[in-house]
Amino acid sequence: MKALVLSGGSGTRLRPITHSFAKQLVPIANKPVLCYALEAIADAGISDVGIVVGDTAAEIMKAIGDGSTFGLRVTYIRQPHPLGLAHAVYIAREFLGQDDFVMYLGDNFVLGGIKELVAEFRRDRPAARILLTEVENPSLFGVAELDNAGNVVRLEEKPKVPSSPLALVGVYLFTPAVHEAVAAIKPSARGELEITDAIQWLIDEGHSVRPLIITGYWKDTGNVTDMLEANRAVLESAERRIDGKVDDASEVIGRVHIDEDARVRNSRIVGPVSIGPGTTITGSYLGPFTSVARDCRIENSEIEYSIVLPEASITGVGRIEASLIGRQVEVTSSAHTPSAHRFLLGDHSKVQIPS
Ligand code: G1P
Repeated sequence: MKALVLSGGSGTRLRPITHSFAKQLVPIANKPVLCYALEAIADAGISDVGIVVGDTAAEIMKAIGDGSTFGLRVTYIRQPHPLGLAHAVYIAREFLGQDDFVMYLGDNFVLGGIKELVAEFRRDRPAARILLTEVENPSLFGVAELDNAGNVVRLEEKPKVPSSPLALVGVYLFTPAVHEAVAAIKPSARGELEITDAIQWLIDEGHSVRPLIITGYWKDTGNVTDMLEANRAVLESAERRIDGKVDDASEVIGRVHIDEDARVRNSRIVGPVSIGPGTTITGSYLGPFTSVARDCRIENSEIEYSIVLPEASITGVGRIEASLIGRQVEVTSSAHTPSAHRFLLGDHSKVQIPS
């Protein structure tokens, strides 16, 4: 059995972070979201992984390399344009050969792994096994309609009027039967070869497509709210580990991970919190569910329930909450412009200030 991990896509919902950065590399608890997928695949006993890459190929390849750190053999497959998930399967045909495979969307986050799911698929081998979960906003996803017996009767990609609250989770298991489906379907109205259409083709042709409704934790980390929520979920189970230096004037409470070479001075850190290597926290408060990446500088500020990416500096600002701060971003206070906000914001930035 092989794995196909999709890491193309432009990440429009995470702009401006993704103007310069692959969405699959945005960190959750200081580890790229894509790494969780690769760990889950390795844990399920799969070692051959094809990673489909697009415009951000160079960054993904730099971060993951040949996959050996995960115990995997990685083959990169270039998708020249983001023409859909089924198109990714189409161009991976040679890599996949006649093997069964799990397709895993690189920005999806499933807590608890896929080990049992893969083991069960190996035994039963339906043409496709799909995961479904109830969501509040099904129109943002692929949606499945089941009959009374629990069989899938219809799948639709991002329907305006959803027929059910069951969204397709970005983890799919296939036998090689899917290749015939992928070759048979036509591009959708948005010009993409949709995997939902390929699975619908399998159903229509009488192949077995088995749904599994999951109630466990799943997030498509394509937007900031879900990213922060996934960060919270991972930090929730983090353990306390202080490898960096904490001075006597500081207080570190609960499950806090302070990486090597990180320094905390005259600050209060209330876990769960993760602080990356080379970062300094001075005269500040870091509150629960905050991840600060490597080489950041936080001074005289307060941050809670947020993700701060590498080399950002935040100095002298009051309280920051529920925020995703990009790489090398500077947030400072200005003594010279009382009661005015001064911004230099990139395209697609979002700022919320108390009114
Ligand atoms: C894709 C699929 C969709 C699925 C979702 C899960 O959507 O097309 O069917 O529900 O992933 O994350 P995308 O995130 O590419 O818009």
